[in-house]
Amino acid sequence: MSRTSIAALANVAAYDGFESADYIDGAPHIKHASLRELYATLLHQVFVRAAAVTPKPRVLDLGAGEGSVTLPFLTLGARVVAIDISQGQLDRLKARCVEFRDSLEIRCQDLNVALHDEKESYDIVVANSLLHHIPDYSSLIRAALGRLNPKGQFFSFQDPLRYSSLGAFQRMFSNGSYYVWRFGKGDVFAGVQRRLRRQRGVFTDSVHDNTEYHVVRDGVDQDQIAALCKSLGFQCDIHKYFSTQSRVMQPIGAAMNLANTFAVIAHR
Ligand SMILES: C[S@@+](CC[C@H](N)C(=O)[O-])C[C@H]1O[C@@H](n2cnc3c(N)ncnc32)[C@H](O)[C@@H]1O
Repeated sequence: MSRTSIAALANVAAYDGFESADYIDGAPHIKHASLRELYATLLHQVFVRAAAVTPKPRVLDLGAGEGSVTLPFLTLGARVVAIDISQGQLDRLKARCVEFRDSLEIRCQDLNVALHDEKESYDIVVANSLLHHIPDYSSLIRAALGRLNPKGQFFSFQDPLRYSSLGAFQRMFSNGSYYVWRFGKGDVFAGVQRRLRRQRGVFTDSVHDNTEYHVVRDGVDQDQIAALCKSLGFQCDIHKYFSTQSRVMQPIGAAMNLANTFAVIAHR
């Protein structure tokens, strides 16, 4: 089985079983008000640019989850197609977005297949907290850019910067912040064992090693993404910021102006 299929199956197993509260606890961009605000600002910027061309923009939300992107875009007046591989996540999305059902289409599909079969074009394609779940995210971005209207935009948020691009202190602070949160979650011994195994370059087919595929490997390569977008004729803005799960460490890292995470807005 390919690493793409293994990662897709790991995501079904992980997200179908996730309780909403557990997801939020491990999702800094939803957990912390400061990151929700940053996200809302960028989302609004993307929407306004699209609405200047099309009053009711069409949005394709990739890896839509419980609807943290779909709902704000619907609220702003967009029409949204939301795709996710987890039916459990989509059931929650549907319930949260019920008042906008006339502007919403929901599809339970593997994006690695869905995007390549997609024939429609969109004003905005979003991949929020998704790229690090996809082994070959470059192919996914290439396919996403191919589904955009001439003035369309690609928007992603909340992926870890390529680890080798971080300075030693940023990396140490980032890892330390993660452990401050992780030690309160139990299962610490097994977690440390997994970490040591991965440091030796040994990965398994387990859910642990394949759900957040690039988080447990090298991060997501922001420079490669910028180069890809530019090579396809897009202007690419990379926004770097600090994010961590710990409520204590989040404001400290942000106040120190550290960055370990990024967003992308690609437009023509
Ligand atoms: C971290 S969550 C992000 C959810 C939402 N976009 C957000 O920001 O809250 C990642 C989502 O991607 C979905 N996903 C992962 N791999 C996928 C794939 N190959 N096809 C479709 N969805 C996938 C997962 O099921 C999960 O709902």
